[in-house]
Amino acid sequence: SLRTPIIAANWKMHKTTAESKQFVTEVRDPIGNMENVTIVICPPFTAIESLSGCLSGTNLLLGAQNVHFAEEGPYTGEISPAMLTELGVRFVIVGHSERRAYFNETDATVNRKVQAALHHRLVPIVCVGEDLAEREAGQTFSIVESQIRLALGGLDASAAEQAVVAYEPIWAIGTGRSASAANANEVCRHIRQTIASLFGDTTANKIRIQYGGSVKPETIQDYLQQPDIDGALVGGASLDPQSFVGLIRAAI
Ligand code: G3H
Repeated sequence: SLRTPIIAANWKMHKTTAESKQFVTEVRDPIGNMENVTIVICPPFTAIESLSGCLSGTNLLLGAQNVHFAEEGPYTGEISPAMLTELGVRFVIVGHSERRAYFNETDATVNRKVQAALHHRLVPIVCVGEDLAEREAGQTFSIVESQIRLALGGLDASAAEQAVVAYEPIWAIGTGRSASAANANEVCRHIRQTIASLFGDTTANKIRIQYGGSVKPETIQDYLQQPDIDGALVGGASLDPQSFVGLIRAAI
């Protein structure tokens, strides 16, 4: 495909700063200079500044796992877009299902965060996906379509094409159960069609769509070979340096 694959590590609430730096020390040489692939590491907030130093001079890019939508203000515990860009952060995961489930993230806050991120030239990695009951009820397409329409609402085409979408079926996250590559591609194709109906074919053909949910070094190729899957958002298998190197090597 014309789209450069994008592999993102979502470390979730794992790794202290020392552990994060150790990881980068181990992956810098094997994957730090790879081309024709976008590699993003999303550590906890506390490790971002240190990693910013460790990653300079490599092709590895920094992402955050969340952001607030306001410029600044009385939001105890929150982090603004400018606080991230100041540290060299280029990507931010928005609307991960764990944040929707445990931290009151809604389609409305996801939309505000997507807009704020793009306003600050942060690339939002917008997460969508159905849960098991929705899948079994045959609602997968309608759920992801609605999540995409709301998440990208109010954007123009030139802003929307900057975003990355991650399709993560909730029942496949951290469970070892994963969507088949063919099925994941069907949903990603539906997401792309939804984007085409909102913004036109040019934007739909530019936007990168990842699959996430129990991706492993042994399975990543199956996903990337699909025409509408342009990368992966990886949790568990991104935590171990050797496994992460294996993912990237298999992806290119
Ligand atoms: O953001 C990553 C996803 O939630 C996938 O996590 O690879 O551990 O299933 P997982």
